[in-house]
Amino acid sequence: MVIAVPLLDVVRSRQAKPYNPLPAAASFFGSAEDIRSLTMKLHPTGKFDNQAKPYTRLTALPLASAMGAEIQGVDLSALDDATFAEIADALYRHKMIFFRDQRIALEHQEALTARFGPFGTDAYTPGMPGHPNVQRVVKEADVRVKLIFGSGWHTDSPFLEQPPSISMLFGVDIPPYGGDTIWANTALAYDFLSETMQQVVGPLRVHMSAAGVMSALADKAPGDGAAAKMGSVELDVDRQAIIAGWSHPLVRRHPVTGEKALYVDETYSSGIEGMTDPEARALLGFLQQHVTQPAFTCRLRWAPNTLAIWDNRLCIHQAFNDHDGFRREMYRTTVLGEVPR
Ligand code: SIN
Repeated sequence: MVIAVPLLDVVRSRQAKPYNPLPAAASFFGSAEDIRSLTMKLHPTGKFDNQAKPYTRLTALPLASAMGAEIQGVDLSALDDATFAEIADALYRHKMIFFRDQRIALEHQEALTARFGPFGTDAYTPGMPGHPNVQRVVKEADVRVKLIFGSGWHTDSPFLEQPPSISMLFGVDIPPYGGDTIWANTALAYDFLSETMQQVVGPLRVHMSAAGVMSALADKAPGDGAAAKMGSVELDVDRQAIIAGWSHPLVRRHPVTGEKALYVDETYSSGIEGMTDPEARALLGFLQQHVTQPAFTCRLRWAPNTLAIWDNRLCIHQAFNDHDGFRREMYRTTVLGEVPR
């Protein structure tokens, strides 16, 4: 049976549609209303709340609804155990925390890193002279490249058997604008999957490899197989090892908080054990888009003497390569992580 709908009603219903501010996301995830209702749940009255705990040694100021917090009232060059305990608690709660106006030397950053555990392995850089566990992440003002250190959504070095659990970045020389870093909360993204999808991804293992990064670098230096620099960062890389990579649980449990988080990114996630390439690509494509939707993110505008700390087990991140003409220099340290479970 055909039901006749007056033409005028059709025209009216089309006209009545509200302005859609999120066309790209809406086409992938559903209607703009779906996206709005997701965002609305990230509020003190909703499903998730990034509000700060009342600490005694510091103040935490939430950055976005999804994650991140500025920590105030702390001098990182003179840190006692009680303050460190609150910093660690705030890190696990907010996933990424940052401190402004810290007058710290490399030794202070090394000491703070070591409080969380042994130094992590850096698979890309040789470290700084006299400070092998500190990487200098720099892009000179006159450098024009597509791929900088930290480009693309990623979790740090997941192609290792024991990827870094925690990373720290200290802003030394910061562009007047641009050069921000953005993070996405992977525990929150897991939480917002349907129960059915949680059951699908729960038992899976994701293969992590630096093959994509290595081939992008090789394009730049076809003669010797890979460039010795990424932007202005000197590289010291065991290509075969990081291309071979490692497999990890696609959903990992945080060893301190017990939270489950998706372990997936756009840069290194290259396959899923037991799946064909097309199957893995489809599932990884969905998860990568799901994790990185704006509602799950926070973004940091750097300033000199800002230190950021993030937990790679609970978030992914990327650096913006949008500051050609301005120098950006950071010092980076990492903490050795456990084998993901
Ligand atoms: C990184 O990915 O570790 C560096 C991020 C940044 O430079 O903002």
